Amino acid sequence: MNQPLSTGATYGGSSVGAGETHVAGGPDLDVAAASAVSQGETDRLVTGTPADVSVFGPDIVAKSADLIARYPESRSALLPMLHLVQSVEGYVSQAGVQFCADRLTLSNAEVSAVVTFYTMYKRKPCGEHLVSVCTNTLCAVLGGDAIYRTLQEHLGEDGEPLGQEETSGRPGEPGSITLEHAECLAACDLGPVLQVNYEYYDNQTPESAVELVEALGRGEKPAPTRGAPLTDLRSVELELAGFLPEDEATYRSHVDGPSAAVETLRGAQLAADRGWTAPTMPENPPALPTDESLAGSRISGGEKK
Ligand code: FES
Repeated sequence: MNQPLSTGATYGGSSVGAGETHVAGGPDLDVAAASAVSQGETDRLVTGTPADVSVFGPDIVAKSADLIARYPESRSALLPMLHLVQSVEGYVSQAGVQFCADRLTLSNAEVSAVVTFYTMYKRKPCGEHLVSVCTNTLCAVLGGDAIYRTLQEHLGEDGEPLGQEETSGRPGEPGSITLEHAECLAACDLGPVLQVNYEYYDNQTPESAVELVEALGRGEKPAPTRGAPLTDLRSVELELAGFLPEDEATYRSHVDGPSAAVETLRGAQLAADRGWTAPTMPENPPALPTDESLAGSRISGGEKK
């Protein structure tokens, strides 16, 4: 099913062997599938027929107007708009591209260029949950690669490991899981880490990760180590678009969860325990260099030569 990178291919500046990626060291990234366009997309590109945006109802149109009104230039609303369309379909479809282009007076090419640049915009339908395993250097050596490979095999079918951004189960249906490996998730002190719908699960092992995805498959929502309670990817996409829960209790549960970990605060705690402080700023700090002084130093540097 998957077409691994060919032997000797160069990816990210590294030589990559057959069936390997530079991060996970396992068969995962289906480059051909990731870049393939569906028949519907092909038809639209060939005929120039605009995609049908009727999937985005009056509520989404109203929310898009709300987003656009937050910026002096409508095009500045593109990033939250893309999260908004993902909250409806679980990915950015051609209809999603068309909807954003229409609302923001952009071309489909301009919107597509943004969608294909950022990894948080998905080009294939995602599962109820998105599991992102950090396989960047520190997490990788602490076990992130092993976690990713274990989940690939655990979530795969018929002996085929699940590929990058592939889904176990029918996308969008309860218990379905999309798996991806991710770059540094900014929690290196708690590695190896993974995220479910961008909520953190710290200090993972292959065994704990398997327990986690099994619980998700049963419809459970294990509490993240930090952050908001676990919901589902589409709900999170709505929050990323800028629409937090309106119910006060739900809202508070989303913003008041534990954030900083003990490990993260250890340096600050040590400094406090030992009475260390940062040097205070002088009352009259030295003046910043001016254009003239910089030009003078360049001239005197030239004279020395
Ligand atoms: S390397 Fe994994 S969070 Fe930084």
